[in-house]
Parts: sequence; structure tokens; C-alpha cells
Amino acid sequence: MSIAGARPNFMKIASIARAIDAHNQQTRNREGTGDIIEHVLVHTGQHYDKKMSQSFFDDLGIPAPDINLEVGSGSHAVQTAEIMRAFEPVLLKEMPEVLLVVGDVNSTIACCLVASKIHYGLENGRTRPIIVHVEAGLRSFDRDMPEEVNRILTDALSDILFITEESAEDNLRKEGVAAGKIYFSGNVMIDTLKQHLEQAKCSEIKAQLGISFPYGLVTLHRPSNVDTPEILVKLVETLLDISSRKPLVFPLHPRTRNNLVKFGLFSMVEDSPDIIITEPLPYLDFLNLTMGADIVITDSGGIQEETTYLDIPCVTLRENTERPVTVDVGSNYLIGTDPEKILRTAELILAGKGKKSSIPKFWDGRSGERIINTLVKLCSSAQNSTEN
Ligand code: UD1
Repeated sequence: MSIAGARPNFMKIASIARAIDAHNQQTRNREGTGDIIEHVLVHTGQHYDKKMSQSFFDDLGIPAPDINLEVGSGSHAVQTAEIMRAFEPVLLKEMPEVLLVVGDVNSTIACCLVASKIHYGLENGRTRPIIVHVEAGLRSFDRDMPEEVNRILTDALSDILFITEESAEDNLRKEGVAAGKIYFSGNVMIDTLKQHLEQAKCSEIKAQLGISFPYGLVTLHRPSNVDTPEILVKLVETLLDISSRKPLVFPLHPRTRNNLVKFGLFSMVEDSPDIIITEPLPYLDFLNLTMGADIVITDSGGIQEETTYLDIPCVTLRENTERPVTVDVGSNYLIGTDPEKILRTAELILAGKGKKSSIPKFWDGRSGERIINTLVKLCSSAQNSTEN
């Protein structure tokens, strides 16, 4: 069973679902080892707008979820609790052998926590699923970030941890995780990116938005950047300044749109001749825009990785990153929210003096395959030892 809940989960689950299909196909053709994997996909409904959820299933060819918990938005406590309440009966009914969670959103920790305390009530056999965390060990060391809390707790409760970069292993070892639980799989999000590059090139989004000139791409959605009027106004003014040198395309996350309206900033952005705002974009359209951008300005986690893979200069408006490889070998600049620093870095990049990326280890399009092969081996050796 795997869990998808919020937008950044979908591209990761797409890779896992493909790898399971490929394994099953090989098994049917008697080329591979192991049994057919029966995959149950659960969508928690944390993200529910078509543009935040269904469009990703369509673009990425992810099978429709077998179960949708339809939980929706709420405070962290309410959202996490509602997912837990809805997920427990599903887990007890399906009794999967393995529960796979990805990333660091509230759906990740909620389902992981339920699974870690469940008891299937069987007389013989497993009492709970093996819990697998994909994208484990990333740490920003900033516990004010809700995702950091989700990451630490999910890793502490998981039985098998797949990591995307070497820093994650150091972090997990320092937290006392046994080396034998950690597997370096690479980055499943990059699997999906590689898989869809050609399709993304065919997107019509630039024509639809009327863009026939060089541009930058902006995304902002972190509560620390968009929930406080003083910070958001400063960021909007900085973006307006940059846009006078390079027009900016700015797809708006619902949280950001709501707050721009609430703080009376929306018209400043909407009326600017050099900022093109859009709704949240489907995967292929957004990837198309990323590939063509001269600069990306973001506070996302995943976009730091995607720009590193694509060698597009990225300015990250955060004080820390849980993905240090994107700064160490990638094209990412970790800048924070000081307007001076943002402008200086943007100028450097727009003058063509940005740094070049190299591609981190195992970001090669085969991470999902490594994960499924590892799980098949671990499950069959566990089965053999029970039978013996
Ligand atoms: C969540 C993740 C974050 C991830 C982000 C990507 C957590 C703690 N955070 O943050 O790590 O980077 O997703 O988007 O899990 N809303 C809609 N429609 C939707 C979903 C949300 O309008 O389909 C609005 C609602 O007003 C909601 C707000 O966005 O209250 C925030 O949604 P929520 O799921 O709480 O967190 P995100 O900020 O999206």
C-alpha cells in the first residue's frame, strides 16, 4: 500500500507505481524474481483541488487511487487527526504487508503513525505492515518548519529508509538509526522528471500565457514566507524589482493567493505589467516553464532538486535547506528573504554568472526500480525465514 496526499507526493508515487508495474510485467514474463505485487494506492485527499491533485494523476498516468479518504484542509492537528481516523479502518481491512510513504507532508506522518501502532489481530503472521519511508533522512534542522517535524517522526517510526542524497545517511546515523535500515536509492522525483521531459517540451503553456520572451519562474507557498504580511510585502516588492529586468511567471498556490488578497497585496502583483500570475499549473506545463526559465525563484523543496537536475539557476528564499546537495553540487543558491541578497543573486544569475550543476549520485531515473527490487528481496527473505 502506498500513500499520496499532497501535490509533491504525486510525482514520487508515479515512479513507485511504474516500478511496481514493471516488476509485475517481468514476473508475468518470468524474467524477474519474486511474486506479483498487489498495489493499493490510498489518496488522503489532503490536496483536493483539480489543479493541486487530479491534474497530476492525468499528466503522470498514475492509476486512480483505490481508496480516497477525502480529508481536505484543516489546522495541522485537525488535518493529521482526520487522516489518522480515516486511515485506520482502511489499514485494518486491507492488511498490507508493506506500507510505503513518501516525502514529509502531514499525510506522510499521519499514515505512518497509524501503521506503527496498528495490530492486525491475526493469530499467525504479521501484526503490522513493514513501514517504508521514501526520501528519508533529509533535515533542515529547523523545527519551526512543519515538514521537519514530519520528517523526524516518520524516520523514527519507519523500518526501511530510502535516501536521495548522502547527507541523509549522516543525519539518520546521528539520530541512532541502524545502518542496515538505510538504502541509497536516489531520487524518485527525478525518475518522473526524466520520464516526462519529452512530453513536457510539447506543452503549449507558453503560447497560452502569451510568453515569447526570456522570463523567470517564481513559486512561493511556505507559511514562513506567505503567512506574515511584513515578509510577504517585502518579497512582493523584491519580485516587482526583479521583474522590471526579467518578466516573471508566478503560478499561485491557494495559500499564497488567499494571503495576497487578505493582506491587500494582490492587485500590486496582478496589475504589474511584468508579472504573469497563473493558477497552480499541471506538471507538464510547469516542467516546460522550468526548462525554459533563465532563473527560478522558489521556497519549494522539490523545485530545488528539479532545477539542479536541469541545471537551471535557482534562488531559494529560505534560510535553510534539507537538500544540501542542491547547493553543494547543484545550481541552487540558498538566500533567505533579505531583499538585498535576493537582488544581488538574481543580478549575478541574469548576468550569466550563475553556477553550473552536476547531477547528484543515483539521480539517474532508476530510483523507483532500486526501491522495488530491494523491497522484493527483503520481503522474500523475510517470508523464507518464517517458512523455515
Ligand atoms: C502542503 C505540505 C507542504 C508542501 C505543499 C505543496 C504539509 C505540512 N505541508 O502544504 O510540505 O510543500 O503541500 O503544496 O503537509 N488548499 C486549497 N486546495 C487544495 C489544497 C489546499 O485551496 O487542494 C488551500 C487551503 O486553504 C489550505 C491551504 O491551501 O488550508 C494549505 O493546504 P495544506 O494542505 O494545509 O498545506 P500546504 O500549504 O499546501
